[in-house]
Amino acid sequence: MTATSLDASVLDELREIAARYPEPRSGLLPMLHLVQSVEGRVTPEGIQACADILDMSAAEVSGVATFYTMYKRKPVGDYLVGVCTNTLCAVMGGDAIFERLKDHLDVGNDETTADGKVTLEHVECNAACDYAPVMMVNWEFMDNMTPASAVQLVDDLREGKEVTSTRGPRICTWREAERVLAGFPDGRVDEGPAAGAPSLVGLGIARERGWTAPATEASGRAVGAPAESDDRVAEQAAVEESTTADETAAEKDEAK
Ligand code: FES
Repeated sequence: MTATSLDASVLDELREIAARYPEPRSGLLPMLHLVQSVEGRVTPEGIQACADILDMSAAEVSGVATFYTMYKRKPVGDYLVGVCTNTLCAVMGGDAIFERLKDHLDVGNDETTADGKVTLEHVECNAACDYAPVMMVNWEFMDNMTPASAVQLVDDLREGKEVTSTRGPRICTWREAERVLAGFPDGRVDEGPAAGAPSLVGLGIARERGWTAPATEASGRAVGAPAESDDRVAEQAAVEESTTADETAAEKDEAK
């Protein structure tokens, strides 16, 4: 095994992660998160340690670590702050927030403040468009942000104030969050709401109208058989089709 700067307890935990899986290499992603929790980034030593434990080449591990954006090759600050600048968030104010934060923090994209507290990055759609514009702190949601609330957020983080995600737990440091992603829970999983009101609007409408999910074997209905709601949709479509046909026939009669 190649010499590494990671101490024995970290190597033990890396092996513990690998042992969770029937195929040890399936543990590579959480192992890289553990490396980040200890080293503050994916280091060459961390790559080599993963490679040795998983009997892979360093090039193979490096290929994975450089493919996913959650793995960082440069040191990350205490808090990783992301601003969604994908289409919907951008037009709702994400671009303005990102510009304001770059100016306020005096950093560019993927750069860390001089005090080492905040790394700023723009992120792609977080599947939270109903709360646009969205920010992330260590990948926890901060919803419906404005340039002013974004500045307040990073100021609070830098001053060490307690910050709570809009739909998640109290914010910990990025390294602590990385340890959770490696599969070592911090006990905060149940903090915060499971879902916000905008995400539940569709469910409310479906319940109001009696809509159900399509049949599956587990649902007890024959696969392929329409649910009652499917029947209603089909009936409605048939009525509309027949009305259109009648109207067309009437128009033809009138034209004669
Ligand atoms: S565009 Fe920002 S969460 Fe979808």
